[in-house]
Amino acid sequence: MKILVVGSGSREHALCWKLAQSPAVHELFCTPGNPGTNEVARNLPFKVNDLDRIVDAVQELKIDFVVVGPEEPLSLGLADELQKIGVPTFGPSQSAARIETSKQWAKEIMSAAGVPTGTSIAVRNLTDGMAAVEQLGIPVAIKADGLAAGKGVVIANSTLEAEVALRAFLSERTLGAAGELCLVEEYLEGTELSVFALCDGKDTRLFGAACDYKRALDGEKGANTGGMGAYSPPPFATPELLDEVMRTIIEPTAAAMAAAGAPMRGVFFAGLMVTATGPKVVEFNCRFGDPETQVILPLLDGDLVDLLYRTATGDLGSVDVISARAGAAVGVVLASGGYPGPYDAGKPIDGLEERVHDTELFLAGAQRASDGQIVTAGGRVLTVVGTGKDLAAARSLAYQRVEKIAFDGMFYRSDIASREIES
Ligand code: AMP
Ligand code: GLY
Repeated sequence: MKILVVGSGSREHALCWKLAQSPAVHELFCTPGNPGTNEVARNLPFKVNDLDRIVDAVQELKIDFVVVGPEEPLSLGLADELQKIGVPTFGPSQSAARIETSKQWAKEIMSAAGVPTGTSIAVRNLTDGMAAVEQLGIPVAIKADGLAAGKGVVIANSTLEAEVALRAFLSERTLGAAGELCLVEEYLEGTELSVFALCDGKDTRLFGAACDYKRALDGEKGANTGGMGAYSPPPFATPELLDEVMRTIIEPTAAAMAAAGAPMRGVFFAGLMVTATGPKVVEFNCRFGDPETQVILPLLDGDLVDLLYRTATGDLGSVDVISARAGAAVGVVLASGGYPGPYDAGKPIDGLEERVHDTELFLAGAQRASDGQIVTAGGRVLTVVGTGKDLAAARSLAYQRVEKIAFDGMFYRSDIASREIES
């Protein structure tokens, strides 16, 4: 099978790395990819939002199957375009991608399905917004309806903070059209958990669970980022809890989306808050998580091509259970100084060739300079992943490998998975 992976992050490097292990792969391509994906696949030059050129390349290269990493091409309808030319695609239609691209639509689906989530009120102006804040009380979450690359959520700890956020999204339009509709949402207290479940439009299967570290600095300080590290499996995500998530959240959501004429074909990424009264949905995404994928795939016991292809072609029912190997994985993101704000690029990365057993590097914001040296080219530069018999072993190996890598301005969190090991 000829397979194309769309994307260029650590997540896509991890996907390419795992897909390449399947005997079903005859040729693997990645667009636009990075120097890491180019080690296991052949990079193509097309950006993820350049749908026409991606579709042309799929036809010219006679690609049999496309795996879409990020949400942007899905939100633009890449899966629909590929469907038209008869190429199975892992990733939902534009209409089903609304589970991520419209928080209000996601709430409507969850309400129809009776899925536990925070109470929310949709507002289009400041007056209604402040009335909703008054009703739900402080703290409260203020969310832009549309895609906002991680900048669309503010947890307001005072009425003033809520007003500033609502004014920015609704009146100043700091996020453009993404913020013309906002949700004011009940603040949920608990432990965050990312759960991934494949869905072929009707059947669903648990794929894995992980914890993500979103803040830039140790001890949950600093700005919100795309994710500074992750670990899997979280010890508190017991089989009973995951079973409850499948029964009360994933399966009803899949059924409600199908009933709405927008079946999910791809992966449900449920961002959950495990509260005193059970798991509740904070948000849904319609793609794999980054950096969660980097710690789930090394533990996956099975053929990723087979699983994703069956998902894309409506044949997930033939898969009994998706199993993980015993043990754990810890991933640490190495970032450019200044991230998630402005940062410098073009810094040579040293130590990439140094090995530590049971570790992998998944590149993201990196590129090959004209002299062949790999240099930084983004905020999140790479994820270092260690695997071991337990979280402590995996963590120790990950940080041993981190120590061998250096670039000007490099920073990372030193506390990934530590709360699980110390507690
Ligand atoms: P999101 O972009 O929806 O993932 O939100 C970013 C982060 O804001 C989440 O990972 C949570 O930490 C936090 N958050 C979002 N909504 C809520 C909520 N209703 N209650 C508590 N925290 C929330
Ligand atoms: N790790 C969070 C995300 O992928 O959106």
